[in-house]
Amino acid sequence: MSERSEADTVSFVVENRIAWVSFARPEKRNCMSPSLNRRMLEVLESLEFRDDVGVVVLTGEGTAFSAGMDLKEYFRENEAKGLGAIRKAQREAYGWWERLRWLEKPTIAMVNGWCFGGAYGPLYGCDLAVAAEDAQFGLSEINWGILPGGGASKIIVELTGFRNAMYHAMMGENIDGKKAAEWGLVNEAVPADQLKARVTAIAEVLLAKNPTALRATKWAVRRVGEMTFDNSMDYLVRAQEAANFFDGEGRKEATKQFIDDKTFKPGLGAYDL
Ligand code: ACO
Repeated sequence: MSERSEADTVSFVVENRIAWVSFARPEKRNCMSPSLNRRMLEVLESLEFRDDVGVVVLTGEGTAFSAGMDLKEYFRENEAKGLGAIRKAQREAYGWWERLRWLEKPTIAMVNGWCFGGAYGPLYGCDLAVAAEDAQFGLSEINWGILPGGGASKIIVELTGFRNAMYHAMMGENIDGKKAAEWGLVNEAVPADQLKARVTAIAEVLLAKNPTALRATKWAVRRVGEMTFDNSMDYLVRAQEAANFFDGEGRKEATKQFIDDKTFKPGLGAYDL
């Protein structure tokens, strides 16, 4: 096919308050070119504050989630242009992964196929991750002579621990979705034909929760990992008080439904929003 326009490197559809966002270069196994990186930031920003979007799912068209950075357009062509172009391309890629990490809405990575190298950035950027059992994950950087950059070394240690991280990064062998779930790289793996149904079911649970509390929770879990215990305690008090500023009524209503109306039990599900 002829070269894709920048706008066509990402596709998305909003259905029942779930935004399904896809890497859309299946003919290039959804590797991340500068165009795709620019477009993805635009798409995420366009979805972030939409009232009809409660959850964002990131996935890939075709056989790949994403085959990592585009070795031609991201690496070779920018390196030929010089340091300015390299740094610009890094900012564009790292920029949307950062936006994804701190998105106002809960996010789920639906890993449908190949997931390599740079794709660990958006994988970690998503709050939850579900893979097809036969999806393939790899830090293939070592296979072509570089280290796992773009956060990938940090992410693999953070999610899987020292031994698995070292093996994965040094050996350049792929693991499947089942192993990725065992290692903690994703929450769970399901047969490919059940992947979308499982992600939809998770998204529906999230859609029934108080959105202010969800946002505060996802940010808290990401922040406290790098804090001392005392700093975490302090941060969490302040984060809850900030959440009360946006939605002071939610928990009062929930408390009423539990204590007075006896219409729900917090231990068993979400209150009626
Ligand atoms: N960068 C640039 N082009 C790519 C990339 C990539 N990361 N991945 C796939 N493509 C291109 C191929 O060059 C090919 O292009 P062509 O049709 O113009 O020849 C097309 O996508 C299809 O790729 P195939 O290799 O033919 O697809 P196949 O299904 O046989 O294999 C696989 C898929 C295993 C993902 C293979 O494409 C591959 O190894 N890709 C590279 C994976 C990788 O190591 N990524 C870099 C990680 S490191 C980092 O991100 C920093």
